[in-house]
Amino acid sequence: MNKKFFIVTYGCQMNKHDSEKIAGLLLSCGYKWAKDINDADIVVFNTCCVRKSAEDRLFGVVGSLKSLKEKKKELIIAVGGCVAQKEGVNLQKILPHVDVVFGTHNIASLPNLIEKAKNKKVVCEILRAPRDELKIFPIERKNLVRTWVSISTGCNNFCSYCIVPYVRGREMSRPFEDIVFEVEKLADEGFLEITLLGQNVNSYGRDIYNKLRFAELLKRLNKIEGIKRIRFISSHPRDFNNDVILALAEREKVCEHVHLPIQAGSDNVLKAMGRGYTKESYLNLVEEIYEIVPSCSITTDIMVGFPGEKEEDFLDTLDVVKQAKFDNAFTFIYSPREGTKAAEMKNQITDEVKMDRFNRLLEVQNRNSLKCNLSFVGDEVEVLVEGLSKKNGDVLTGRTRTNKVINFLGRPSLINKLVRVKIKEARSWSLKGELV
Ligand code: 5AD
Ligand code: SF4
Repeated sequence: MNKKFFIVTYGCQMNKHDSEKIAGLLLSCGYKWAKDINDADIVVFNTCCVRKSAEDRLFGVVGSLKSLKEKKKELIIAVGGCVAQKEGVNLQKILPHVDVVFGTHNIASLPNLIEKAKNKKVVCEILRAPRDELKIFPIERKNLVRTWVSISTGCNNFCSYCIVPYVRGREMSRPFEDIVFEVEKLADEGFLEITLLGQNVNSYGRDIYNKLRFAELLKRLNKIEGIKRIRFISSHPRDFNNDVILALAEREKVCEHVHLPIQAGSDNVLKAMGRGYTKESYLNLVEEIYEIVPSCSITTDIMVGFPGEKEEDFLDTLDVVKQAKFDNAFTFIYSPREGTKAAEMKNQITDEVKMDRFNRLLEVQNRNSLKCNLSFVGDEVEVLVEGLSKKNGDVLTGRTRTNKVINFLGRPSLINKLVRVKIKEARSWSLKGELV
């Protein structure tokens, strides 16, 4: 009988996409999906270590599988992704019931490692240098109309707080033609929306072509028949050049949404973070985007409590939040990550101050998000219907081109279709509308 697997994914869209590769690979090797963890012969954890909280959660969940493993001796537990890359064999010392540890560059080895584990070997494979990233995997795409396409992996920025370059390796762009080929294939298969993925999509091409080719890539993908929407995530403000803004303005499929992490508003903090821009240059960029693409939605990532952040620095962050008119922001409390420069800094901020700033930031951003959403009431927008609302089975949920969640009454037959919706009500996190 075919063995069954279950994948638990933590973290970003990159990780979610990697899990699609893991699933595709295991299915191509004859494994089948399990209904849940209890039904599985193999449980794969695809992990995130960007903040300590994500790591703690993983250790808790994997730890709790010890009793299941005692009952079900044949169960194989595999841990991959960023925590695996960071901890290596150490992970099996902390969690001895883990059979397989595989790094971020070792996805292709997983079936092999599982075979070894079946013979009661405890295995760990962590490559320091990239190997798998450019391989073409069989991908088990979760959705049939919207999907991710990875354009680069890794990161060269080494922002002083961030562990990503250590666990994901140096930036590596995929060849231009490979990406075009993949998107053409997806269009043939009926996909309508693609999201291009990279830690810093705007620097696409620098490593292999010695120049930035992201805007060119957008223009080329825009020509592919069948694809209706092109998104991308994430953008580094330092590499966001004018060509990309023009591509947003001129190419009809490139959606009017930019995720532009600012991290902090104070020049002192930005310098200590090693971000390579100032409050002023960031605000100028935002202004330029709004000027050329007035309907553009800008979202961001913001961190509070970076070492040495003073009250006046934090007020600069609040000031940017007010001025930049972010549609939405992912807000984080700085979490020291061992091995990064910032974790060694002596001027760490107390939890109490971090929490206070976090709550104040959240309050300002929530108010902004609501104000921004209220300004759309009465507009008619294009929505790609994603499915039924979790709260109400008669309600459909989808996204506008600006990546806003919108709920409205409609038939399930509209799922995966593009429809027109009139916005009737606004909340901080979503909109309510009526089918036109
Ligand atoms: N602590 C808190 N947040 C972090 N991020 C990255 N590293 C850390 C850290 N050490 C946040 C940044 C990044 C997002 C993905 O996670 O805001 O943009
Ligand atoms: Fe981390 Fe900075 Fe790279 Fe983003 S750009 S992944 S924050 S090092």
